[in-house]
Amino acid sequence: MKKTNDYNLEELNTIFDNTVAETTDYIKKNGLVNGFELNSLIMGDCMEIMPLMAPKSVAMTLTDIPYNEVSRSSNGLRNLDKGKADILTFELKDFLEEVYRVTSSTIVIFCGQTQVSEIISFFNDKKKKDGGTVRQLIWEKTNPSPMNGQHSYLSGIENAVYFKKPKGTFNAFCKNTVFRHQHGKKNPVNITEKNHQLLKELINDNTNAGDIVFDPCAGSGSTLYCARELDRYYLGVELNPEYFEYADNRMAA
Ligand SMILES: C[S@@+](CC[C@H](N)C(=O)[O-])C[C@H]1O[C@@H](n2cnc3c(N)ncnc32)[C@H](O)[C@@H]1O
Repeated sequence: MKKTNDYNLEELNTIFDNTVAETTDYIKKNGLVNGFELNSLIMGDCMEIMPLMAPKSVAMTLTDIPYNEVSRSSNGLRNLDKGKADILTFELKDFLEEVYRVTSSTIVIFCGQTQVSEIISFFNDKKKKDGGTVRQLIWEKTNPSPMNGQHSYLSGIENAVYFKKPKGTFNAFCKNTVFRHQHGKKNPVNITEKNHQLLKELINDNTNAGDIVFDPCAGSGSTLYCARELDRYYLGVELNPEYFEYADNRMAA
């Protein structure tokens, strides 16, 4: 974990009234979060870290929040047990407010199906006040798990909500909202990662090299890893010490 000298958040907030380019320059020189440099993974609660970040300090937030649903047994069918990775530890609205505040361009949040409408209506409210574009994105898995396939349709998609602020970056052209990739690999700490090609596609579509990509629920660190591979700066926060250690080792390699 890289640390910088602490600096004053009030002073930063004045500085960050400036343009995105000036803000990004400042962050590259001085660090992003009070006490932390760019290209860091922080072990902690994102709801404590984000308030330390200046407004619009990252270009893109790309994250995968706990879905609060997959470990639940409700219909008698065999469940995937994603354990701690699935437990929602914050009020979704408070989380969204912070993510909205710290992001200058684009937000993509992978989420459970029951969370989609709350997240979409949050961003629709922001859009009414300040403009922007809201979309539901679908990740269609080209190799869905055959689990319970004799009883019902396969569970072959995941949902994400996309929000782009006015004048945000968009490098794709006439692209649909359905992304087709294989499911991700299971890693040693038992989190099913998002497919790296999917994450890279989203990062390329919505940022440029040298931009800052933020993941407040970093898990095994796949977003940060993909951002670095694409020459973006990164910042991640992870609450669970076991997942943090796995991601931290991965980023140190
Ligand atoms: C669905 S998993 C993310 C998996 C990740 N996409 C990956 O590829 O490994 C959600 C993660 O959010 C973390 N988390 C939950 N609450 C958090 C919080 N308040 N602050 C930071 N991380 C949190 C969990 O520990 C878990 O690792």
